[in-house]
Amino acid sequence: MFISLEGSEGAGKSTLIDSLKKFFKKNKIEFLFTREPGATKEGQILREILLDKSIEIDPYTETFLLVADRLQHANKIIIPALAKDINVLSDRYIDSTYAYQGAGRGISQKYLDQIMEPLNLPMPELTIYLDLPVEDGLKRAKYRDELDRFEEEDIKFFERIRSFYLDQAKKNPNRFLIIDSSKDKEEVFEISKNLILKKLNEK
Ligand code: TYD
Repeated sequence: MFISLEGSEGAGKSTLIDSLKKFFKKNKIEFLFTREPGATKEGQILREILLDKSIEIDPYTETFLLVADRLQHANKIIIPALAKDINVLSDRYIDSTYAYQGAGRGISQKYLDQIMEPLNLPMPELTIYLDLPVEDGLKRAKYRDELDRFEEEDIKFFERIRSFYLDQAKKNPNRFLIIDSSKDKEEVFEISKNLILKKLNEK
């Protein structure tokens, strides 16, 4: 099964991933944890460019770099794992591009479809979105470490991204589920773990 995890800045994706890793290991459920951008060696180089705030890039260039990263990621990591029946959980995936480059930077959904559809990327069967009011998330992100090129954007950019995700969940209720990440982290973990186990059992 292929799962993606999405979340606003500071919504607690990393904490949730750590708990899920421990849980799956303890229960001997095989899961490959991966992430975007930067899961492959070449993706690491693309990630450095993408997050470097001293580099100015056009939104379309940004999109192509992210899509290049995704194609390498899909071909080298996701598709081979799924072919071996290994479960995959990706920290960010295709919805991030529609959210950040689409809703955030203003590139049309149609244009993004045109770039991505010919690539035949595998689609997640479950997408979990950790939702947090933008201001709370940015406060958390600022505490953590220095801001990257995306985190430096203004609050409206992140509001557009959050609205996009919330809207996606309404449009795709079977794939896309929202978890309120203002709840405490144990509760967020419990809800996520149960959602994943339910999907695994349905298969
Ligand atoms: P990262 O340090 O991995 O942050 P996070 O914990 O928020 O996932 O940074 C990845 C950044 O890249 C994040 O701000 C979102 C952005 N991004 C896009 O804009 N589009 C995309 O398609 C992807 C995969 C990521």
